[in-house]
Amino acid sequence: MHQTAQKRLFSAIQPSGAITIGNYIGAIQNWAALQQQNDCIFAIADLHAITVQQVPEILRKNSRDLVALLLACGVDCKNSILFLQSQLSYHIELMWLLSSMCYIGELSRMTQFKDKSAKKEENCNAGLMTYPVLMAADILLYQTEIVPVGADQKQHLELARNLALRFNNRYSQTFTLPEPYITSNGQAKIFSLQEPTKKMSKSDVNSLSYITLLDKKEEIIKKCKRAVTDSDNQIYFDCQNKAGISNLLTIYSAFTGKSIAEAEMQFKGVGYANFKETVGEAVAKYLAPIQERYRELVADKRYIDTVLRDGRERAGDIAYKTLRKVYKKIGFYRGE
Ligand code: TYM
Repeated sequence: MHQTAQKRLFSAIQPSGAITIGNYIGAIQNWAALQQQNDCIFAIADLHAITVQQVPEILRKNSRDLVALLLACGVDCKNSILFLQSQLSYHIELMWLLSSMCYIGELSRMTQFKDKSAKKEENCNAGLMTYPVLMAADILLYQTEIVPVGADQKQHLELARNLALRFNNRYSQTFTLPEPYITSNGQAKIFSLQEPTKKMSKSDVNSLSYITLLDKKEEIIKKCKRAVTDSDNQIYFDCQNKAGISNLLTIYSAFTGKSIAEAEMQFKGVGYANFKETVGEAVAKYLAPIQERYRELVADKRYIDTVLRDGRERAGDIAYKTLRKVYKKIGFYRGE
């Protein structure tokens, strides 16, 4: 039985191929830590992934493999719920209901929509714009109190809160207002290793710009060594003037548990080449047991399917209760 002090927590991640250390540091690492004290629900946001055209076999494989990876990262599917978003149609139903209360102006102002639509002239689909409404549905279906995400999702969470408030004001108290959980240090946004003022992203065309959780040790070290930095050869944290070095310090701190100040002390007087190599070694050392556990889990398809079946059932029970209430409040006729 969960204690009443526990809070309901929801978060999700897209199964769009490589999962980066940005995803890990900004979100997944917090999921694993927060699930000890909270009532957690984690989803693989496969519906969100199709705003970019997907190859069916690859989408299926990526979704299944991501279950194994999240478990390897410490998501505990006994206490927490882990499920696939597309397996519960409640998400799409609530999305439609919320869409009718969401203004086009709100969606077109979203930074991520503006960035993505500017880049995707050939596939600027409506899903890119309505994506945050689906995200709001994900969160609100579960009466979520806390949403641990990276800084890039903050604006989407504000929309989820606004939609919840709007619905509650119009129809009476129905949805819990979710609070973002975004770490306040630099870990909420890990930057590209090649352009350290840009977010590290798995969709970057240059694979040197990101480290994935499944990269081999040599690759990780190579990517760290090739990371773009300044030329003053001093190692200290200063996001404004030393974005590359600061990003590497943040990564080092996340994977060693040392504070930024401790890391600065450790690297005082050390050359950039040595520093980068040490960062790469620390990342590889941290990821090695996750990779080993991943390889065991991913081979066990039956187990993955069991986890997803169980997750779907448990998540479905909660989501259905909310949705039933929402239908009733809006005024849909249900018969006697
Ligand atoms: P996605 O799949 O892009 O990213 C998953 C999580 O990783 C975080 N993240 C980062 N954090 C720090 N530095 C980075 N470079 C970095 N890159 C990614 C993201 O902030 C996110 O927390 N729309 C969401 C998935 C989603 C969701 C939800 C999240 C769907 N429904 C409901 C929370 C609640 C997304 O595309 O995340």
